[in-house]
Amino acid sequence: MIRLDKILAHSGYGSRKEVKELIRKGFVMVNGEIITDDDFKVDEINDEITIADSTIKYEKNIYIMLNKPDGYISATYDNHDPIVLDLIEGYEKRNLFPVGRLDKDTVGLLLITNDGDLAHRMLSPKKHVDKTYYLKFEGELTLDKISKFQEGIILDDGYLCMPASYNRINNNEGILTIKEGKYHQVKRMLEALDCKVTYLKRISFGPLTLDENLQEGEYRFLTDEELKLIL
Ligand code: URA
Repeated sequence: MIRLDKILAHSGYGSRKEVKELIRKGFVMVNGEIITDDDFKVDEINDEITIADSTIKYEKNIYIMLNKPDGYISATYDNHDPIVLDLIEGYEKRNLFPVGRLDKDTVGLLLITNDGDLAHRMLSPKKHVDKTYYLKFEGELTLDKISKFQEGIILDDGYLCMPASYNRINNNEGILTIKEGKYHQVKRMLEALDCKVTYLKRISFGPLTLDENLQEGEYRFLTDEELKLIL
């Protein structure tokens, strides 16, 4: 059983305060009966909730894969730059937020959800969730330097990174998988090896892989198969 006002708020009918108002004013029916008590609890699977003649399909949590474009901030608010949620239609009412951050100039896979528990699980430093990046860089990554990824790179602030795996594509491109998410981590790892990242794209996050059909700025909801992998 779940509170009626909670279902309505999660389904995009407004803030908790706004939906309580709708309930009190008699706009909401449960199984054909007008309910004016905002404390009212419903069975989210079996009860039929209607509001202004439309039936509500309860979607507790939303899971979106976004191919983040350059120039967007991974946050729920910014007073200067566009934010990733600007790209998601109707986001205002759904309490969405990005799971972790990609730098403003980083592109690629960003998970957007309103599921705080999932975000916690995927971001917890203890879980060591893999993040894989395709990168282009300036400078020379010798074989000796590449072996440092496995040994653990020491960042500018003295932090010793966990072993990471690097797959060379050519002299200035590669694929790097890390298990942490320190601030600017990939760029700083490359800096520690006297190289400079010029392009960074996240291609996987935990068990999720960026959908190649998504152009930068496009998004889609996770499939049932993907949900099984992360929930
Ligand atoms: N590492 C970085 O340096 N930037 C990102 O956006 C993600 C990982």
